[in-house]
Formats: sequence, C-alpha cells, structure tokens
Amino acid sequence: MNDMRIVEREVETKAVKISARNCQVYYGETHAIKDVNIDIEDKTVTAFIGPSGCGKSTFLRCLNRMNDTIDVARVEGEILLDGEDIYDPKVDPVQLRAKVGMVFQKPNPFPKTIYDNVAYGPRIHGLAGNKADLDVIVEKSLRRGAIWDEVKDRLDAPGTGLSGGQQQRLCIARAVATEPEVLLMDEPCSALDPIATAQVEELIDELREQYSVVIVTHSMQQAARVSQKTAFFHLGNLVEFGETGQIFTNPQDPRTESYITGRIG
Ligand SMILES: Nc1ncnc2c1ncn2[C@@H]1O[C@H](COP(=O)(O)OP(=O)(O)OP(=O)(O)O)[C@@H](O)[C@H]1O
Ligand SMILES: [Mg+2]
Repeated sequence: MNDMRIVEREVETKAVKISARNCQVYYGETHAIKDVNIDIEDKTVTAFIGPSGCGKSTFLRCLNRMNDTIDVARVEGEILLDGEDIYDPKVDPVQLRAKVGMVFQKPNPFPKTIYDNVAYGPRIHGLAGNKADLDVIVEKSLRRGAIWDEVKDRLDAPGTGLSGGQQQRLCIARAVATEPEVLLMDEPCSALDPIATAQVEELIDELREQYSVVIVTHSMQQAARVSQKTAFFHLGNLVEFGETGQIFTNPQDPRTESYITGRIG
C-alpha cells in the first residue's frame, strides 16, 4: 500500500506552465537551438543540463525574451506561458520579465541599498500603494530569499557589500519581489562556495511550492539534488526530457548516457 502511494507520487503530473513549440534560435548564421519542443510544469524544478555550448542559456533566455536584447539573435516558433504566446506583439517584455524572473550566474545586485534592490521591481510595477506596503513586500521577499535575518539590521547598506552567497540570495529576493510565476536560474551557484550553494539549493526546493523553477547547471549532482525533471541538451537539440531519476539512472538516448557517465562534455 505504502509502495503504491510512492509510485503514485513519482508519476504525479503538474499543470503545464511553459510550452515551447518548434523553437529555433539563430545567432546570424549559427543555428543554436534546433526545433525544441518541451512542456515545463508548474510547481516543479526543471534542470537543463548538457555540455558547454549546447544551448542551455540560449534556450533559457527564450523563456522570458532575454534574447530580444541580443541583436544577432532570432527566435522562431512559439513559447506559450499559460497557453499564451509570449512573442505576441501585444506582450510587453518588461511585464513578461516580472512574471518570468531571472537569476544570473554572477550575482548582480544593483548599486543601491539592500532595501532598494528588492523595492525596485515592485516600485516600477506599482505593486505597493505606500511605504508601509513596500516595507511588507521587501521583508517578505527577503524572507523568501532566506536572507532576511542576515540583513534586517542593515537594509540601508549597499547590496554590493554582501558576500557572494548573500548577494545571490538578495538577487533571488529581488526576483521574487515582483511575484513572478516562473523563476529562471542560469548556473546560480557557480560563483558560490559549498555552504552558500547548499543554502541556495534549499531555497530552490522551497520556491518550488509556489513557482515553476528552471535551473541551468553544470553539476549533475546539483541537478539530481534539486530537480524533479531534467532536460538534456546536445548541439542545440533537446535530446531527452523526463523525470530526473529516470534521466540519471536509465537514460534512453546514448548521448545522454555518455554525458552523465562523463564520456562527453
Ligand atoms: N550572443 C551570442 N552571439 C553569437 N553566438 C552565441 C551568442 N550566445 C551564444 N552563442 C552560441 O550559441 C551556442 C549556444 O550557446 P549557449 O551560451 O546557449 O550555451 P550553453 O549551453 O549555455 O553553454 P555554457 O554551458 O558554456 O554556458 C554556442 O555555439 C554559442 O557560441
Ligand atoms: Mg550558459
């Protein structure tokens, strides 16, 4: 009986949050993403893995139109957020990026106070009616970023004065402050030590209760620890996508197997 329940949990499917349909990305003549189709679930951590240059960051950037900021990049196909095409001309990319937040490899706090780093998004999107509302949002976001206790007595200090791991958690707090629905993270722990990495991983696990989280990682241990779904990319192709446990223990494609056993990449 117990065993049955465990099996049910493992195959539980969540609502689809983002779908890519025949997605292609070109940088000039370079075809960097080749006909990718994927359904990314809500309230799930999805890991993107694959060798350097395979297109993980490029595809991640399709999901909140960050490729728009790269002149030579051209995106084709459809990316649907809750069934709506985010590349529709009606969609405002700034509003979109509040809904689909992003955390980068290198912590990049604004040259502002800790408070203003977090308050910036809610201010520009008009999420707070007054200072008291904003204070509530800032505290809630810093708590969600698992950094409130470390900074609550120095909210007026510059964000850039924090340690690397604290800066990254501040950036996560900044990203969640606009109440996103999806959080994209491109190697968020690569500049962090093992302790800060463990803190951010724990945080990612908590964020999953509320958001759809997509994380690019070079660490297969990290992918195995934090994700429920894993997508393996190779030379611009999405080679295999499935339950993380299955991808790591029973990959269906020889390219996935070579990568996870360390033969390529
Ligand atoms: N701004 C750009 N202009 C031109 N080509 C680019 C640009 N960004 C990426 N590329 C190319 O697109 C391909 C995919 O790159 P991408 O950065 O998405 O890979 P990645 O999987 O994130 O690699 P890494 O693990 O090293 O971060 C590579 O061939 C890369 O050289
Ligand atoms: Mg990358």
